[in-house]
Amino acid sequence: MRETNLTAHDFILPLFVSEKIDKERPIASMPGVSQYSLGEIVDQAQRAHDLGLQAILLFGIPRDKDEQASGAFAEDGVVQKAVRAIKSKCRDVVVITDVCLCEYMSHGHCGVTRMDGEHFHVLNDETVDLLVKTAVSHARAGADMVAPSDMMDGRIGAIREALDANDFNDTGIMSYAAKFASVFYGPFRDAAESPPQFGDRRSYQMDTANAEEALREVALDVDEGADVLMVKPALPYIDILWRVHERFGKPTAVYHVSGEYAMIKAAAEKGFVDERAAVLEIMTSLKRAGADMIATYWARELAEWIR
Ligand code: PBG
Repeated sequence: MRETNLTAHDFILPLFVSEKIDKERPIASMPGVSQYSLGEIVDQAQRAHDLGLQAILLFGIPRDKDEQASGAFAEDGVVQKAVRAIKSKCRDVVVITDVCLCEYMSHGHCGVTRMDGEHFHVLNDETVDLLVKTAVSHARAGADMVAPSDMMDGRIGAIREALDANDFNDTGIMSYAAKFASVFYGPFRDAAESPPQFGDRRSYQMDTANAEEALREVALDVDEGADVLMVKPALPYIDILWRVHERFGKPTAVYHVSGEYAMIKAAAEKGFVDERAAVLEIMTSLKRAGADMIATYWARELAEWIR
């Protein structure tokens, strides 16, 4: 009678690769999650695949940051090098790359900024140009799918056009279509070393209070050619997930984010909840609510638990 069953193929494992380290570096606010060196990342991808996972989502931490995020689209950037290494040794794992500028910008914002007295603006179109270059360079390195997480307007269409023009017709786009300005990204910003140095991300990420606007944002990405629609974070936005799945009928992804992970980890460490039972309940709920794929830091454990 059970309607919803989990399989290892439901899960995408986020992985952090850093150019600044030689050896795994654990993230204090995310027990069980680490940054890996370029030397280690291939083994991590292979291990994920051996566990039965189909896909990884790759985030890069560059050696240097600047005001143009040049590390994001450098041919020898950290993600480009990691993708080439993974694809040469472990071809079958689906490599999805995060496309965003925040890890590569000295100020930590997801786009090009301009100060205007006390206030700063994120320059949408200038940012889209850099995102396009980043996505094409990831595809050239061998990425199967690119995942723009920046929330600029018009970037899905621009990336699709540039991928096609460069003969990457088969490279997919997983759009962070409804990404909310959330407090639950806090621990990730430690992991990706990308906290904004001033201001916040509310001018480009969605308002928690707005569901109709979220659906309009998703509709734009559908029109522009997104292959997979993502809702993020997960549990606080499960209504959005359901509506996106119902309304658009496209492959729908959800990102169970760092703060959601950290909350359960902290409660489990104190003995307040049973980690495994809690995680299985959450993941089953997300799938029931319409998620075809779930990005989660528990992907490896889940693959083992449900074997
Ligand atoms: C970068 C990005 C963020 C996350 C994924 N891509 C952080 C942010 O927008 O500040 C969050 C993932 C997580 O919290 O697990 N744009």
